[in-house]
Amino acid sequence: MTTTNVQRILVTAGAGGIGRSIVMAFASAGARVHACDIDANALNDLRAQAPSITTSVCDVADRAAVQRMVKEAADSMGGLDVLVNNAGIAGPTASVADMDPDAWEAVLRVNLTGTFAVTQAAIPHLKQSAAGSIVVMSSLAGRFGYPNRSPYATTKWGLIGFTKTLSRELGEFGIRVNAILPGAVDGARLRQVFEGRASVSGRSLAEEESAALANQSIKRFVDPADIAALVVFLASGAARSISGQMIPVDGDSQSAS
Ligand SMILES: NC(=O)c1ccc[n+]([C@@H]2O[C@H](COP(=O)([O-])OP(=O)(O)OC[C@H]3O[C@@H](n4cnc5c(N)ncnc54)[C@H](O)[C@@H]3O)[C@@H](O)[C@H]2O)c1
Repeated sequence: MTTTNVQRILVTAGAGGIGRSIVMAFASAGARVHACDIDANALNDLRAQAPSITTSVCDVADRAAVQRMVKEAADSMGGLDVLVNNAGIAGPTASVADMDPDAWEAVLRVNLTGTFAVTQAAIPHLKQSAAGSIVVMSSLAGRFGYPNRSPYATTKWGLIGFTKTLSRELGEFGIRVNAILPGAVDGARLRQVFEGRASVSGRSLAEEESAALANQSIKRFVDPADIAALVVFLASGAARSISGQMIPVDGDSQSAS
């Protein structure tokens, strides 16, 4: 980069949810953006909305696909300044005692190993940048225990260790690495989480919603644009001395459930 107006950004899982807000925030700020996602239709829709964005279909759990995707991103943008490791799946709602081991592994493959694979492929490109940075999407579940969501919480805590380690490894190359820990973000996924909780607790959806808000100082769920604004800030020169940090955006939530 270049701190001018041509940051080159790769966002994983950029076609929907929080990732899409991040993609649009960078694109509106004049950055070049490459989005990858497992959902080809959603990527088509994203390009229809913002034709300057380049895309790759990629499951971050597929190592060969990740190699291809990162190369496509760097080729199409002429390099890479910012990697946003946003891809992550929620996984099942079940106690550890009842957890399906295959479902456990599926969450680790996407959330942890997928993030590792994308980052490893991106590092050589980020080292070429004048101001490289990486943002890792952890979660409120990465700072509290989270009953009935063990694979998710385990991976989101794991990503904190990954972030702090990477920050130490990459600082000497001028690459900063920070983690964002979103709380309950408004959208389809949050509704699914409430449905999952309700199916375990026997409470209604409305009861699950008010229980979630009772847990926060700020009495509204997080807007995906709030997360995107922080990502844009962390990737900017204004954050040039910030690395190895874990920043919650969760309305001051007091637990993960
Ligand atoms: N939504 C929340 O309340 C919340 C809270 C805390 C943390 N997070 C984290 O934020 C990130 C984004 O969450 P979200 O709610 O926007 O997600 P989401 O479920 O809305 O999915 C966003 C995108 O991810 C894509 N995707 C799914 N699996 C993929 C894979 N294997 N490879 C590539 N793309 C894949 C989907 O196609 C979709 O377009 C995740 O890491 C999530 O854990 C979300």
